[in-house]
Amino acid sequence: MTEFVVPFVATPFFGSPLLDVRSDTVTRPTAAMRRAMADAEVGDDVLDGDPTTRRLEAVVAELLGTERALFFPSGSMANQAAIWVQSEPGTEILLDADAHIFHWEIAASAALCGVQVRPIRGATSVFRAADLLAGIRAPSIHAIEPSMVCVENTHNGAGGAVTPLHDLRELSTVARGVNLPVHLDGARLWNAAVATGTSLADFADCADTVMVSFSKGLGAPVGACLAGRADVIARAHRVRKRFGGGMRQSGILAAGALYGVEHHLDRLAEDHDAAKYLAHLVDGVGGAKVVMPDTNIVMIDLPSARADEVVSRAAALGVRLSKWHNSRVRAVAHLDAPIGLIAEHGPKIAQALADALA
Ligand SMILES: Cc1ncc(COP(=O)(O)O)c(C=O)c1O
Repeated sequence: MTEFVVPFVATPFFGSPLLDVRSDTVTRPTAAMRRAMADAEVGDDVLDGDPTTRRLEAVVAELLGTERALFFPSGSMANQAAIWVQSEPGTEILLDADAHIFHWEIAASAALCGVQVRPIRGATSVFRAADLLAGIRAPSIHAIEPSMVCVENTHNGAGGAVTPLHDLRELSTVARGVNLPVHLDGARLWNAAVATGTSLADFADCADTVMVSFSKGLGAPVGACLAGRADVIARAHRVRKRFGGGMRQSGILAAGALYGVEHHLDRLAEDHDAAKYLAHLVDGVGGAKVVMPDTNIVMIDLPSARADEVVSRAAALGVRLSKWHNSRVRAVAHLDAPIGLIAEHGPKIAQALADALA
């Protein structure tokens, strides 16, 4: 059973780190991305539309093969809008026991949408059709009604694990077989597509709504899109406004996201190679065991509850890691932590592990 304590503990850190692999969200926009943002053509997106935002939404809808996509300030808001429009208060949403929506969105589904979240622990690291099937309750006057299924691909808590298309299709068939819409938290769907060669549209076809994020591997500073059928996204548009997510000259941000999609998508393969390199470098050090990464996230399981010590020893050597829980630390390869930098400073992570676990 996974043990959850306060994650991402901010360790005191002075000066610039030599390597920051806490998350792929720490990237800073490149000079070229900043230029694209500065030059963006803009309008009032809440009033009557912003041309660059429209362009981003069209590009994303095309890539995902959906009727429409809508720009959001964050993945969390887009996830919650998807839940709002596809559930009823007093119902439950079924999802993976380690899902971001369950653990890291501070009970927004309950607080904002009035739904209960029912985590299902998969037989393997990520839940599959058989797990979902086993989790669906028989209808009864005593049982809460389900309203939707949420699935995360890649799966952050499982170490960036990819749910392959075949498994996702099976899961989706089970959900749709009992009339449950599927929401795909695809914050890192880009990584899944690049790692497997499966198209984004094939993955998206397994879901009714899909969230993709621009502020992770693609290196943009802000934003996500929610995509799906036009009528569903039209309702999500109203919910975005209700959540306070209407953004005026959002083209400035959309331009960064567009730049990321157009220039940083294919290079995600380099992050996957960098993560594998790091995984091999640290696996076994001091008894630590690495979850071999499918994509860019390296979860390092410690033989004892010494995550704080590993994180602080690494920080003292100039490398920032994140604590996932007491006996797990996370390192993520990204645009600003490329393989060269990981090759140069990764040995410091091995040293921190060896020292902390000695
Ligand atoms: C799998 C997953 N879903 C959703 C989110 C939320 O995205 P945001 O930080 O843009 O709200 C994250 C953020 O790390 C994530 O990893």
